[in-house]
Amino acid sequence: MVDTIDNLMHESRRFPPDEAFSANAVATPALYEAASEDRLAFWAEQSKSLLHWSKPFTRTLDWTNPPFAKWFDDGELNVAYNCLDRHVLAGNGDRVALYWEGEPGDSRAVTYAELTAEVKKAANLLTALGVREGDRVAIYLPMIPEAIVAMLAVARIGAVHSVVFGGFSAESLRARIDDAQAKLVITADGGWRKGKVAPLKPAVDEALAIDHGDGPAKSVEHVLVVKRGENPVDWTPGRDLWWHDEIAQVSDEHMAKPFAAEHPLFILYTSGTTGKPKGILHTTGGYLTQAAYTHKNVFDLHPESDVYWSTADIGWITGHSYVVYGPLANGATEVIYEGTPETPEPGRWWDIIEKYKVTLFYAAPTAIRGFMKQGRQIPQSRDLSSLRLLGSVGEPINPEAWVWYREIIGDNKTPVVDTWWQTETGAIMVSALPGITTLKPGSAQVPLPGISVDVVTDAGESVGPDEGGLLVITEPWPSMARGIWGDPDRFIATYWEMFKDRGYYFAGDGARKDKDGEIWLLGRVDDVMNVSGHRLSTAEIESALVSHPLTAEAAVVGASDDTTGQAVVAFVIVKDSQRENATSPDEVALELRNHVAQQIGPIARPRQVFVVNELPKTRSGKIMRRLLRDVAEGREVGDTTTLADTAVMQVIAKAVN
Ligand code: PRX
Repeated sequence: MVDTIDNLMHESRRFPPDEAFSANAVATPALYEAASEDRLAFWAEQSKSLLHWSKPFTRTLDWTNPPFAKWFDDGELNVAYNCLDRHVLAGNGDRVALYWEGEPGDSRAVTYAELTAEVKKAANLLTALGVREGDRVAIYLPMIPEAIVAMLAVARIGAVHSVVFGGFSAESLRARIDDAQAKLVITADGGWRKGKVAPLKPAVDEALAIDHGDGPAKSVEHVLVVKRGENPVDWTPGRDLWWHDEIAQVSDEHMAKPFAAEHPLFILYTSGTTGKPKGILHTTGGYLTQAAYTHKNVFDLHPESDVYWSTADIGWITGHSYVVYGPLANGATEVIYEGTPETPEPGRWWDIIEKYKVTLFYAAPTAIRGFMKQGRQIPQSRDLSSLRLLGSVGEPINPEAWVWYREIIGDNKTPVVDTWWQTETGAIMVSALPGITTLKPGSAQVPLPGISVDVVTDAGESVGPDEGGLLVITEPWPSMARGIWGDPDRFIATYWEMFKDRGYYFAGDGARKDKDGEIWLLGRVDDVMNVSGHRLSTAEIESALVSHPLTAEAAVVGASDDTTGQAVVAFVIVKDSQRENATSPDEVALELRNHVAQQIGPIARPRQVFVVNELPKTRSGKIMRRLLRDVAEGREVGDTTTLADTAVMQVIAKAVN
């Protein structure tokens, strides 16, 4: 962290907007003026101009019961209608909505007219299966067009989707199904990843059968299965249904009924500081407004000519806001890709950009750092000249990666927008606006027009220039989370208690303001790690580790990593009773790494597991993770005076080296 701050503060490269780009840019300085003049009028105007309201709203914000906001709450709209039908009705039915690229090389182009017809059929199918307004539907699918069809069909009938990333384990899937009491699961037999089929339906079967004492899953009535991987699957007659069989039997006529602006749209689970993931709840009108507004202005979208590609999976918030809702609400043409960037060989992403002439590209710093390692020859052997804007999301982007991205991928000419936001914020909050902002590599820079953020001390006082503190959001915003599913108290405690008197939202990120008042993100200040742009909780991984019979105690830290930003490093104590079963430390480590992957999902697999005899604890028994992080990052161990046993760290450091 110290190194990071130091590097950032010496970063002085600046990239002013290109004149030709500015001349044609979607965003204009007038946005900042309008928003600062009257923030609520600004959002009302954005919402009216970007969306089709079946019943126009007259109230913009109701903040009488903070932190539970209501935006545009007397208006009504249908999200799927906004993302589909209205584009067809406006004469753009033949425009390609999705260029889908399968990992093995198969592909499909789906127009707005076709996507609308598919979603209408799927909406009829969901209704036929008994899914009603407000019911929850779990979606566990690979990146195939049906994933988007499923999400929009759920939204169309006013049900609530909970997309679970396909890389999550059966255990994680089950926990999410139970928490939301999902009635239906939509999955696939399997999807292509790294050159082979990764099975999904077997994980659903396993998830539903898990019995932790209160029996198998009770809420799920049906499992709807898309055929993609052609891998063999078990079948539970009556419960399991093939998507293609069912969809063939329903009509493609479907009237989209409008719902109230605050009708729930989706739940998305994300890791917090405790072991249990939080179901972040988003609603309809405000969410769609900000998703569309940010997608249009931050990515400079010209829907009639651009080809946009966000590499995010629909299992994450970026996949919700910038693969599904933002782009489709704006009538964009976009690419979706099923597989990994290295399949069949490095350079696959660049092939896709060349093939579809992608103009706007949005990816994570981890991927960019990975490509830097592979060398510039790989992208330089492709034609990437169609690109005119690059975006970054998910974690701080170090200036070197930023500059490489612009130079090698963006041919030294494209703007790079570093976008800060979270599952909870629903949409981008802090970012440069292309064509307006002079870009600073490594900084997310400025709040978007309509958004108010600050960097403050623990006491909530605004920090001065060149000072660090905590990032807060000082005014409500349209796409803000409306709560944690089933746990309003946790919503208040996690985000709003810290600066209760001021009514600020506490993001959990450390940040610094520079001399110009612009913002540099410095990473999480809580026990949340950011591995390859994915949020993981130390507590969740620790509880997975102690669920293994070998483990007595475990402590997990996020250690900085050149490629993934942070990596999971675990320290475990083996139970005395298990010492004879614990062969070598290497074997224990391997066993436990695999156990975590199996419990949570491969993204949570620790990079390293160190077997130790003790953990550094304060006299009150709190584990001092800071010291473990020093060891994990190969640094001199910091101040140990508050440890109950000051010698512990020497023993640990020796065990590790
Ligand atoms: O720590 C911040 C980091 O990712 C966290 C949010 O994670 P998640 O809800 O999974 O959403 C990721 C995609 C929006 C934040 O608290 N983060 C996200 N974007 C950036 C970032 N850190 C620095 N710079 C960013 N651009």
